[in-house]
Amino acid sequence: MKKFSLVLFVLAAMVQLVTAQELVSPNSSLRLQFSLLSDGTPVYQLVYKNKEVVKPGKLGFYLKNDKKSLLNDFTVTDSRTTSFDETWKPVWGEVNNIRNHYNELAVTLTQKETNRQLIIRFRLFDDGLGFRYEFPQQKNLTYFVIKEERTQFAMTADHTAFWIPGDYDTQEYDFTRSRLSEIRGLQLKARTANLSQTSFSPTGVQTSLMIKTDEGLYINLHEAALINYSCMHLNYNEQDKVFESWLTPDANGDKGYMQAPCTSPWRTIIVSDDARDILSSKMTYNLNEPCKIENTSWIKPVKYVGVWWEMITGKSSWAYTNDYPAVQLGITDYKAARPSGNHGANTANVKKYIDFAAANGFDAVLVEGWNVGWEDWFGNSKDYVFDFVTPYPDFDVNGLAAYAKSKGIKIIMHHETSGSTRNYERHMDTAYKFMKEHGYDAVKSGYVGPILPRGENHYDQWIINHYQYAIEKAADYQIMLNAHEAVRPTGIARTWPNLIGNEAARGTEYQAFGGSKANHVTVLPFTRLLGGPMDYTPGIFEMDISKISPNNHSHVNSTICNQLALYVTMYSPLQMAADLPENYNRFPDAFQFIKEVAVDWDTSKYLEAEPGEYITVARKAKGTNKWFIGNVNGEEPRVSVVKLDFLDPGKNYVATIYADAKEAHYKTNPQAYTIRTQIVNSKTKLQQLSAPGGGFAISIVESAGK
Ligand code: NOJ
Ligand code: CA
Repeated sequence: MKKFSLVLFVLAAMVQLVTAQELVSPNSSLRLQFSLLSDGTPVYQLVYKNKEVVKPGKLGFYLKNDKKSLLNDFTVTDSRTTSFDETWKPVWGEVNNIRNHYNELAVTLTQKETNRQLIIRFRLFDDGLGFRYEFPQQKNLTYFVIKEERTQFAMTADHTAFWIPGDYDTQEYDFTRSRLSEIRGLQLKARTANLSQTSFSPTGVQTSLMIKTDEGLYINLHEAALINYSCMHLNYNEQDKVFESWLTPDANGDKGYMQAPCTSPWRTIIVSDDARDILSSKMTYNLNEPCKIENTSWIKPVKYVGVWWEMITGKSSWAYTNDYPAVQLGITDYKAARPSGNHGANTANVKKYIDFAAANGFDAVLVEGWNVGWEDWFGNSKDYVFDFVTPYPDFDVNGLAAYAKSKGIKIIMHHETSGSTRNYERHMDTAYKFMKEHGYDAVKSGYVGPILPRGENHYDQWIINHYQYAIEKAADYQIMLNAHEAVRPTGIARTWPNLIGNEAARGTEYQAFGGSKANHVTVLPFTRLLGGPMDYTPGIFEMDISKISPNNHSHVNSTICNQLALYVTMYSPLQMAADLPENYNRFPDAFQFIKEVAVDWDTSKYLEAEPGEYITVARKAKGTNKWFIGNVNGEEPRVSVVKLDFLDPGKNYVATIYADAKEAHYKTNPQAYTIRTQIVNSKTKLQQLSAPGGGFAISIVESAGK
């Protein structure tokens, strides 16, 4: 009898194996296997060109206050495979059309005891896998609270990763490169190296997480279409070598309030044996819904300067007076307040930037610190100080709107919410209307400080919904949005292309807060940029910040040519020339590249790439035959070999090459560069040196002569 039941057991296990399903990507390079373990636990695994990418990883949910979680006891009650192939045109982008080509497997699971249904939908592209959970409408599962999502990414060995800590409130970290097994030990060091640090997932990292195996596989873990859900971190268990999802908790510690029918975001694994494929992957966008804005003609790429770096470096201030906290001091009428004499956003200064923008072909000027409230933005009263419509007395809203218009320049609005999201929502309609009345069509928003009023974390479901509300509301007003300190993007700009930028990582501002690692910009395109463009604010020419602001001894860890290259390597339809006009006037020949470089592209070709080391990309400017190439380099000097075989055969072009001088170095000699021109064609092979923390930038235009 015993023997018989053993046979039955083995048979049962085999039956479970029989339920395993396989899905192959369109070109067969990727294979996904889905199966149920003998206790009805769903698992998946992924293979790329016969190499295991992830081992079997468990899927499911822990539910709060529920008799049974959605972890096991499932049977497969339906399963469908389909194929999809479309090409869509982004409103702006690295390329002018994007192919969305995948095979899909949707498995309906029914939990035996509860008769609840859960669909897991897998989409397998040639560049990776996306999968999500879907909760169909059903009697036995209506409202529920997620205690934790259990999505595992089971690693095959102790790989190398580029990671930042799983912080719920900031993404503004330098990356740590380490073995997976070292993440736990290095957590504290990584956290304390940052300026602000609050609460964390225990051994967690943020996504997008870039991993490299010793066999040369590049694996990227992230999510797509983060809508009405909490942002995912990944906790690493080094015993089992498994990353497991760890959703950002809300103020109560809960991870998600769900009402069926609903879905999770997509969990993504982008994979290749060629690092360049990770950079050119459009899978994250493809997993988002098509554009929901009918008329997109008002969404335009923007190259801008700003009354900004002077505040970031400490040269001038956002606040109008030195009397703060102003609310406690009873200052309500700023006309009667004592000006500090150091206020950046004064009319004369803003005019200077408008003139500079107009003279050099920019589209816009960002002005921060124009509205009252900055005296209090870190104070106790900050949850109501900003109304986003009241200017300081020395900022002439109407006069500047007219002046900017006369020069063909747009002013970019700034809304620092200081994390007070309910206050922002209360004022949002008035604030957006005010913008339209004064000719502003783009806003930079910000969420510095703890989220008020409930003490939510920066990336939980409650505030994800706020960020989304701001995007959609802005679209209603035909306003382009660039949110700082909001959640890392997950390809939502496909659906809402008015989201032309986000910060959501460590931007150039940190170069004035003490510096960033020289190779930071060789990691961002492999991580943060996969979900959408970053308002990185490049273009710094004066690396010694004390020359701008005597008490600030920060050093910008970059050469001038590295800064030029960022306009090409850090794809964004919103690009700032962040330095002060006077610094550009000192280096007019190098500044010429920033003036010329495009911000929207027909084609992009990643020529060389290795995370943490170097990236070289060539892009063709939209609607032209002009090419721009950028290379950014890490700590070691390096010679790039750049084949120009993407140029039209038989044509001659003039290449202008902005390169680090031989003796350049990001630390000791960042301003040493050379500029040379050369006739090139599709057969040309350029060899170009990049200094440590350096790079090169090249513009290529068709030659008028033969
Ligand atoms: C932090 C943002 O990243 C920066 O760009 C902005 O100037 C300040 N907050 C003030 O809003
Ligand atoms: Ca920031």
